[in-house]
Amino acid sequence: MDPYFYDWLHLLIRLLHVVTAIAWIGASFYFVWLDNSLETPPQWKKDKGIKGDLWSIHGGGFYEIAKYQLGPEKMPARLHWFKWEAYSTWITGMFLLILIYYVGASSYMIDPAKADLNQWQAIGLGLATLLVGFLAYEGLCRTPLIDKPVLLGLVLLGLLTFLAWLLSQYIGNRAAYIHIGALIGTCMAANVFTTIMPSQRALVRAVEQGQSPDPKYGLNAKRRSTHNNYATLPVLFIMLSNHSPMTYSHEYGWAILGALMLIGAWARHFFNLRHQGIVKPSILVSALIAFLLLIVLARPQPLPTFDASEQPVSDQQAFSIVMERCATCHSRQPSDDIFRVSPGGVYLETASDIQRQIDRIEARTLLTHDMPFMNKTQMTLEERALLGQWIQQQRQR
Ligand code: HEC
Repeated sequence: MDPYFYDWLHLLIRLLHVVTAIAWIGASFYFVWLDNSLETPPQWKKDKGIKGDLWSIHGGGFYEIAKYQLGPEKMPARLHWFKWEAYSTWITGMFLLILIYYVGASSYMIDPAKADLNQWQAIGLGLATLLVGFLAYEGLCRTPLIDKPVLLGLVLLGLLTFLAWLLSQYIGNRAAYIHIGALIGTCMAANVFTTIMPSQRALVRAVEQGQSPDPKYGLNAKRRSTHNNYATLPVLFIMLSNHSPMTYSHEYGWAILGALMLIGAWARHFFNLRHQGIVKPSILVSALIAFLLLIVLARPQPLPTFDASEQPVSDQQAFSIVMERCATCHSRQPSDDIFRVSPGGVYLETASDIQRQIDRIEARTLLTHDMPFMNKTQMTLEERALLGQWIQQQRQR
């Protein structure tokens, strides 16, 4: 595909994905808040079958919200459902996954240093991850574990972390992370499709026929939407993780992912309890401490630098490393086959470019090894160490 149109298509789908995801998660946050903030209504409302009452003001108007115990006596002419937010988030997400990671598998997924996969093998591995992962989740939800939510959560967390490790043995770390996010997102959208929607349809049918609905439907829907609720923060982190190479490109990136998913779900727990009037600051504080601890523990060891008595690294040496290993992508006219415009708008082809970007070069090539991207230009450890030593010399000047 013409790389110019490819990039615009990419932008369009990414925007759609972000917008639909905001609508989905926003609606989900709003309804969780709503449900937990309902108050006991006055008698005249109770007589109409209303069990929860709430007043709010927004955008210059008052809103009166009523939640029925079962349903209204007569079905309203128009009932709003919330499902397309979820479906369109999933559909645009899959499009984006295909467009970036599958069409561009050679750049974004395949890492010959890990496994010499061809494009179809990489795509097969990605899709199999989503399918097998989803079936495993559905399977687990049909075991007695479903009644032990904490245990189920821990089992799922363990499996996802294991999967992240397994994937990172075969494909690039970014791709491994994104597939874990896509898997969680798939299960969340599927929860809406396979459980939450059918149970709401059953509820509507029962109300229309004047019967009381089978409570099993409501219970199942509630469980699955609780799963979705706890998954929101972890999945948001994963979708944004591309901007945080110190996570995915870490030697133990899979363990960092596991830890962050746990911290995210734990932090969400605080808000879920708070909405119910239970305030437990210890949850938020311990989540924060765990987060800080992770930052400290995950700091990478500096590369072994050469003995100070040895020759200093000359500017010429440093520049030629950067020219050879970085400028194929990061120049005004990149020669790379995929990146036709310098990624991130970062140029690394003149001495002044390099001087200006010293901090970012250190962050992306030394603190993490995620540049050169997927080590496409095969930078060696020795070159990294030399560049590190040169950067230190610059700072000491
Ligand atoms: C194969 C192409 C490719 C090569 C070679 C490459 N990069 Fe990048 N670089 C990318 C892509 C893609 C991005 C944007 C994605 C991102 O920001 O993570 C990027 C982004 C960056 C950024 C901007 C993000 C930030 O953290 O400020 C910096 C800095 C960077 N690269 C440094 C380097 C350095 C230093 C080298 C050489 C050692 C290098 N790159 C080699 C593809 C490449």
